[in-house]
Amino acid sequence: MSVASQSNRSRDRRLPVLNVAMVGHAFMGRAHGNAYRQVNRFFDLPMRVVPKVVVGRDRRRVTAAAGKLGFEAASTDLEAVLADPDIHVVDVATPNDSHHAISMQALRANKHVLCEKPLAMTLAQAKEMARLAKRKNVRVGVWHNYRRAPATTLAARTIARGDIGTVLQVRCVYLQDWLSDPKAGWSWRNSKKLAGSGAHGDLNAHLIDLTRALTGLEFEEVCGLQQTFHKRRPAGGGKQKRVDVDDAFCFLAKFKGGAIGTYEATRVAPGRKNYNCIEVSGTEGTIRWNLERMNELEVFSFADRRDTQGFRTVMCMDGVHPYAPHWWPDGHIIGYEHTFVHHVADFVQALAGERPFAPDFDDGVAVQAVLEAAQKSAERGRWVRVS
Ligand SMILES: NC(=O)c1ccc[n+]([C@@H]2O[C@H](COP(=O)([O-])OP(=O)(O)OC[C@H]3O[C@@H](n4cnc5c(N)ncnc54)[C@H](O)[C@@H]3O)[C@@H](O)[C@H]2O)c1
Repeated sequence: MSVASQSNRSRDRRLPVLNVAMVGHAFMGRAHGNAYRQVNRFFDLPMRVVPKVVVGRDRRRVTAAAGKLGFEAASTDLEAVLADPDIHVVDVATPNDSHHAISMQALRANKHVLCEKPLAMTLAQAKEMARLAKRKNVRVGVWHNYRRAPATTLAARTIARGDIGTVLQVRCVYLQDWLSDPKAGWSWRNSKKLAGSGAHGDLNAHLIDLTRALTGLEFEEVCGLQQTFHKRRPAGGGKQKRVDVDDAFCFLAKFKGGAIGTYEATRVAPGRKNYNCIEVSGTEGTIRWNLERMNELEVFSFADRRDTQGFRTVMCMDGVHPYAPHWWPDGHIIGYEHTFVHHVADFVQALAGERPFAPDFDDGVAVQAVLEAAQKSAERGRWVRVS
């Protein structure tokens, strides 16, 4: 081992620790676990993040997950984990129906909480979570990680400094195809009781958060349309289970101040794997971002010379771009998992600086209010105000 790496390691050892307990250990468990392991290796932070314990329901599976994801311990006893004063942060990486209960328990135990999206099953639940978080004076966050790609953070910066003028229109789509096949198996994501909604809460939640993060616009009124194309799905052993959530959900939006927006979330768009795209048009230009080319930002500006005007593609992995200098030399691109690392890095910095973190539970409430209004609108067949 070189002298330099030895001294880096001993400096890290002297930092105050931030012990994380993570509940849930599948898809998001892997993404979050990776972020906790990587964050101090790439960001100089005032705290050392320690993936301490994974919490699950099955002893064998949670023990295997702890080993694989790099956590020090495994537990099936959430109460005991929350009673441990050495646990500082609780990460809720479970299906939507448990976000409220686990977060509330963690807040009552005075833990900082990072909760997956959508924050809750209902607006009332989300508000209760936000209220308790404020009373406890702890830091909380929602895992809307797409805000933290270099290109989306740059988009927010350019819109805020007026590069595209006044925002008039936002158009967003989040398209996937994994439920196109009617024989694709039933999961919690197809159940209203476990997920709250389908593509809507899963994908539109991200689009709503991205809109707010990039433009600062607040939703005023929405008009929704939803459809479930495949009403039953195989559930193993020759059985079928009912699907009672949307496969696709579209809505129109009016924002405070007069801008308008269109939204489409679907899991049945053949060929579209994870096409998460936001386009924002202003009086002076347009910016467009698409997760499948996540390091690029497309920019059009009327300020460019008329004879060479057109969309420019900006590669956002240069030393001047958000987060980029923490990784590799210019142009050495990053991927999906890095957005989670950025989320943790910013959360730790907020904690250490006693600064607010966004998106917090108030932002989660704002997203939930739009989701719920759009859902009501789709059910009633008319425009609904966002409360
Ligand atoms: N931020 C993102 O980009 C993103 C992407 C995918 C999913 N999500 C969100 O993350 C959450 C989890 O989704 P996922 O894809 O990881 O799901 P998953 O099905 O892959 O994993 C869920 C995990 O939670 C565990 N679990 C289920 N109920 C539990 C309970 N009551 N107590 C403790 N553990 C429980 C399961 O055993 C499993 O380990 C969802 O809310 C989803 O909306 C976010």
